[in-house]
Amino acid sequence: MYWRIRLALRQLVASMVPSFVKRRIRLRKELEQLGRAQRAECRPDNLRSERQISLSDIFASRDIHDIWLESEKEIKTFRIPDGTGGVNPGDRRAIYYLVSALKPVSVLEIGTHIGASTIHIASALRNSSGKNANLTTVDIVDVNSPIEKPWLRYGATHSPMEMTDGLGHGALVHFVTDTSLNCAAHCQSTFDFIFVDGDHSAATVYQEIAVALSLLRRNGVILLHDYFPDMKPLWSNGSVIPGPFLATEKLRGEGVKVTVLPLGALPWPTKLESRVTSLGLLVKDE
Ligand SMILES: C[S@@+](CC[C@H](N)C(=O)[O-])C[C@H]1O[C@@H](n2cnc3c(N)ncnc32)[C@H](O)[C@@H]1O
Repeated sequence: MYWRIRLALRQLVASMVPSFVKRRIRLRKELEQLGRAQRAECRPDNLRSERQISLSDIFASRDIHDIWLESEKEIKTFRIPDGTGGVNPGDRRAIYYLVSALKPVSVLEIGTHIGASTIHIASALRNSSGKNANLTTVDIVDVNSPIEKPWLRYGATHSPMEMTDGLGHGALVHFVTDTSLNCAAHCQSTFDFIFVDGDHSAATVYQEIAVALSLLRRNGVILLHDYFPDMKPLWSNGSVIPGPFLATEKLRGEGVKVTVLPLGALPWPTKLESRVTSLGLLVKDE
């Protein structure tokens, strides 16, 4: 009883704090945690540089557009919800195009959740990357648990595994239930493409990028979600997730020669009636 009153009081106080004050508090907390993070030794040698990637060519590709239409038709049957934590439909399509163009053989995804990005990566891999293609996707939650069925809480009708199996991609996808850092520490593989969409706190993303760099194959790519350049809002709702920006700035401040290429505006809608995406590619500074 007592804890219920305390919780209600805390919620009441929180609802009275203006959002700009909440943002300040969050930022201060993020910076404190990031300051305490152990310095990571990073070598960005295997990362692609900006001049090795033409985003405008990738997003305008007719070939990818044609295979996308086929995959989109299949994936649509799962009615993956929007606005419940999965990447938005425009970002799903952008990820599909990137994987189709770059043709990675081995992909690591941090943050499976409802599998919105997972099924798009798997479909693009199957269509473009040949028979050795594989995707490891990790989440601290058992996203396919037949008992908890976590996907139902987010309005999805199929688990990530039901979707990948349903499209015949099951053999190429390996689901891991673990923290990203623990999974990476025990990982025996290396990757051509790593998608970072997990915890999002600055301290964790900082360490995730460091291990991602160590697991990257030559000419590999690291794609960040929720990258807000200069921590400025990207949409009319004014929201900002500072972690990925702060993490990459810390690395740069420590002399790691990387930069983030924000994908900016896509040729198709993303969210809040815009074409803007928070996807950003980590590239090597030359
Ligand atoms: C924004 S959601 C990912 C959305 C997903 N890519 C999609 O499109 O459906 C973030 C996910 O990261 C997971 N997560 C949070 N912290 C993590 C960590 N340290 N290691 C692995 N996964 C983590 C959460 O459980 C959550 O499912």
